[in-house]
Amino acid sequence: EKIRSFQKILMDWYDQQEADHNFPWRESGEPYNIWISEIMLQQTRTDTVIPYYERFTEAFPTIKDLAEASEDQVLKMWEGLGYYSRARNLREAAQQIMIHHEGVFPNDPKEIIQLKGVGPYTAGAISSMAFGLPTPAIDGNLMRVLSRLFEINLDITKAKNRKVFETVALYLIDEERPGDFNQALMDLGRTICTPKNYFPERSPVKEFNASYINDTWHEYPVKKTK
Ligand code: ADE
Repeated sequence: EKIRSFQKILMDWYDQQEADHNFPWRESGEPYNIWISEIMLQQTRTDTVIPYYERFTEAFPTIKDLAEASEDQVLKMWEGLGYYSRARNLREAAQQIMIHHEGVFPNDPKEIIQLKGVGPYTAGAISSMAFGLPTPAIDGNLMRVLSRLFEINLDITKAKNRKVFETVALYLIDEERPGDFNQALMDLGRTICTPKNYFPERSPVKEFNASYINDTWHEYPVKKTK
């Protein structure tokens, strides 16, 4: 019951936000476009990503276009974004899709995660946003959001703890709108539950947030330094 109520409040907030401003990759709904945006968003802020995303998908509108482009052409479109292995991996993954999936983006999470440059976060993000599957998409931001919501005392720098966050996310996820649900948590992490701050007056779900209720939010997430 409480989870249903959390989902409803979060999704209503998300719909309101979306009405105010929408990201271009959310409008497209295409697996290819979602994939490109998620790779860009891994290490880069949304404001910076938008124009790169627009130019990249205009230069390479389909998987085939990306697979057939030269590495130099692809790197040129990536210039300034940094972490250039992302661009090389994208092109190689597009070639993988041409060879193994007849140019159609795979819809099975087990196949998605086989693509070059795609880890558990990106596979979960694409599966939920492009294919409507109830898959968690856990990155550092989501671990921060969830650790504050539930006062989870686990070191987020330890790889094995990701599984716990995935389990929590799976338990919370709105199965009717998994992609929107994951993106709502990302929005919360970007605008309200930030690394340095928490803005309860703007949070739709503050009464669900244990660390707000107990005034401990600044203790989360736990990152042990050895
Ligand atoms: N960060 C990573 N993926 C995102 C998405 N789809 N929307 C907003 N922020 C994100």
